[in-house]
Amino acid sequence: MGFAKDILCIGAGYVGGPTMAMIAARCPHYKVTVVDINHARIAAWQSDQLPIYEPGLDEVVRQARGRNLFFSTQVEQGIRDADIIFVSVNTPTKTFGQGAGRAADLQYWEKTARQILEHADRNKIVVEKSTLPVRTAEAMERILNANTKNIRFEVLSNPEFLAEGSAITDLEAPDRVLIGSKETPEGITARRAIVDIYANWVPRENIIESNVWSSELSKLAANAFLAQRISSINAISALCEKTEADVDEVAYAIGKDSRIGPKFLKASVGFGGSCFKKDILNLVYICHSYGLGEVAAYWESVVKINEWQESRFVRTILESMFNTVAGKRIALLGFAFKANTGDTRESPAIYIARGLAEERAEVVVTDPQALANARDDLTDMGDRVHFESDPYTAAEGAHALAILTEWDVYRQLDYARIFASMEQPAFLFDGRNILDHQRLFELGFNVFPIGKAALKHF
Ligand code: NAD
Ligand code: UDX
Repeated sequence: MGFAKDILCIGAGYVGGPTMAMIAARCPHYKVTVVDINHARIAAWQSDQLPIYEPGLDEVVRQARGRNLFFSTQVEQGIRDADIIFVSVNTPTKTFGQGAGRAADLQYWEKTARQILEHADRNKIVVEKSTLPVRTAEAMERILNANTKNIRFEVLSNPEFLAEGSAITDLEAPDRVLIGSKETPEGITARRAIVDIYANWVPRENIIESNVWSSELSKLAANAFLAQRISSINAISALCEKTEADVDEVAYAIGKDSRIGPKFLKASVGFGGSCFKKDILNLVYICHSYGLGEVAAYWESVVKINEWQESRFVRTILESMFNTVAGKRIALLGFAFKANTGDTRESPAIYIARGLAEERAEVVVTDPQALANARDDLTDMGDRVHFESDPYTAAEGAHALAILTEWDVYRQLDYARIFASMEQPAFLFDGRNILDHQRLFELGFNVFPIGKAALKHF
């Protein structure tokens, strides 16, 4: 069967895989190929054991794979065949040279652009799916259109707003799809082609069109605003602990104001994930490079409060356990940066596990999906950290439990059984405020929530 269009995605990660699976499932008339240089990752996408854990993903992939969805390592062939190329490669924070620790590392992006240039033999639409600094499309277009083959590339921005753990529902019914292009006739024609893809399942009023710079900047700004809410409530959580206010009650009360709204006001041990910190630091770098020092400082404070919140959590554990955790077993319940994912990138759990191990605690990590990644993250820690798939075994003989990820399974554990298997006095640090603290206190635990008075037996 002939397909109406040939779509390629370069980069089969947390964004490329699910996004393209959804496009293929909803658009059987388009051929969608996802390529990656990572052979193991592609093999996993072709198997029953997908490389990422995401609720509902298996079903969407199963619907389309082999029909109009293909995973491959043949990047060059893919480029030749494609009408539209989405680029969804990683854009981590730069670790070297100018802008190290802040700017986006665009080496993977640029390599991809050069590959496209080398192997394309006709006009193509190239779509930035990766999150990129504002005005990257301009640089990409310069690279791509500096060719002698008489080929035109139209570079568009179509940032992805999915959140991990809810990627499939986010992709099925996005709050909005944003497509930015140049306002030239060619740019607008290319934009229409991308609108046509999403219009197969997204209501037209939720598809926003803009100029390419607004689109690029909106992605960075959206993540900065979301993270800023978390840092705001986390800052308030510290004040709650001093004043006996309850941060959940405060969040509920302020979130009832329709101008504020209830979402992203859950106090926590800190935000993690591959996006927030990276994108804010990138925004900070861009602001500095335009001479906007005050704006840069404003956004940087969002990251600083987050780091402070993580270190505050370790300090609370240490101080409440009589200023020493040396030789004490501490079970970390959850290592993923949020529930319903196995992803641990920038997870607060990494910092906390390391902080406790430095204090010579015996750290035991458990998580329903993230143990393999946790092992990689802490590989240099040797036998100072242990990994245990069963939470009951992890808790056995522990002086303390710390909830670091809000997995449902941790709400439902038999805490009486756990308490009985622990050293006394037993401590519980709820870094996600998901448990019934009064009940745990009555069971005998000394309970330390975030942003609420501690419940102690001494
Ligand atoms: P990822 O690291 O999971 O995946 C990127 C993939 O690109 C890797 O598998 C890598 O091997 C591949 N790759 C790199 N260079 C390549 C090349 N030259 N040719 C072929 N493949 C190549 O990253 P991700 O989490 O999917 O993020 C991708 C982009 O999307 C980033 O810019 C990120 O900021 C953005 N984003 C991520 C999320 C998220 O929740 N993870 C959400 C929205 C936006
Ligand atoms: C985020 C954005 O939400 C998404 O739109 C963007 O495309 C990618 O970055 P993600 O990082 O996958 O998505 O998950 P998100 O749900 O935003 O959570 C990020 C972190 O903030 C997690 O560690 C989460 O636990 C934490 N968080 C979230 C809180 O601490 N409190 C909240 O109220 C919400």
